[in-house]
Amino acid sequence: MRIGIVGATGAVGQETIQVLKDRRFPVTELHLFASERSAGKTTETAFGPVTIEAFSVEATRAMDIVFLAVSGDFAKEFAPAISSAGGAIVIDNSSAFRYDDAVPLVVPEINGRRALGQTLIANPNCTTAILLMALAPLHAEFGVKRAIVSTYQAASGAGAEGMTELAEGAREFLAGQPVTASKFAHPLAFNLIPHIDSFQDNGYTREEMKVLWETRKIMEAPEVLLSCTAVRVPTMRAHAEAVTIETLRPITPAAARAVLAKTPGVQVTDDPAAKLYPMPLTASTKYDVEVGRIRESLVFGDTGLDFFVCGDQLLKGAALNTVQIAEILI
Ligand SMILES: NC(=O)c1ccc[n+]([C@@H]2O[C@H](COP(=O)([O-])OP(=O)(O)OC[C@H]3O[C@@H](n4cnc5c(N)ncnc54)[C@H](OP(=O)(O)O)[C@@H]3O)[C@@H](O)[C@H]2O)c1
Repeated sequence: MRIGIVGATGAVGQETIQVLKDRRFPVTELHLFASERSAGKTTETAFGPVTIEAFSVEATRAMDIVFLAVSGDFAKEFAPAISSAGGAIVIDNSSAFRYDDAVPLVVPEINGRRALGQTLIANPNCTTAILLMALAPLHAEFGVKRAIVSTYQAASGAGAEGMTELAEGAREFLAGQPVTASKFAHPLAFNLIPHIDSFQDNGYTREEMKVLWETRKIMEAPEVLLSCTAVRVPTMRAHAEAVTIETLRPITPAAARAVLAKTPGVQVTDDPAAKLYPMPLTASTKYDVEVGRIRESLVFGDTGLDFFVCGDQLLKGAALNTVQIAEILI
């Protein structure tokens, strides 16, 4: 298949190239697109050296599938033109179309059938995708009534510039120099920032609201109540999330573990005695989302559960999930 990746020099674009190779996606032609800044440069990839092309609607329409890994504004402007009749199938990483009723929002393990026959498909917010790998199977079995989520989100969630800013900030901090911040609202190295995306009128950030909106859409569960606090932490890669749920039906840690153990894409990592629990360093570069610290909630008793998830958001939250969507379509 003729595959185009727009935003190929970015954090998500780079991972997408590797995932296509690792999963032996049937790529016959690979076209990498980025801005004018990168056009003409040749980059080493898992498919060999490829020269970056300047993005154009015409060139991307000639592809079979286009992975968009640029901003929401960019996707809003160009995705419809690329995917309209006679064009390419577009799988978009941005938030531009996630809340559009006409556009499916897909995590293949949960609602993959929604992608069939579509020419524009949205990939969820990375925090939501990782959460739902655990939440959706528990919802199917026990019925999730309410959920409270606190996130610990890695610097790479803010793209390639976020990773550079954390690495430079750590060096500056350790050298006793002032730590500069431009991508993040404050210096991230040796800090935590409870502010991702813009603040809304209700006091939540847009990142936090996305988790609620997207959970309801993907699980097709408009009645689920969910509240999130999203925090940027100085890890490089893989988002972690502490989750408390109240369920409609009784739930035990053993029953939850049994459900999660047979869920594709989930790795139960839950042996505290052996110091085994989900962590960014063990979840990074892994396809599966780690779930552990599973215990009965002291607040909700036998209809409540506390657990911790950690997943590589550049993979399950972006590159891997989009390639899995493409696999449904071929
Ligand atoms: N990072 C994550 O964990 C994650 C997870 C899920 C979804 N997403 C979403 O995925 C998208 C990409 O995120 P990212 O983290 O990969 O960002 P990034 O590292 O900042 O990369 C942005 C990419 O967009 C390209 N670009 C910018 N303007 C362009 C233009 N006018 N024409 C063509 N290409 C252009 C850049 O090319 P140049 O190098 O030429 O500037 C670069 O390749 C965003 O919508 C983000 O919200 C990110």
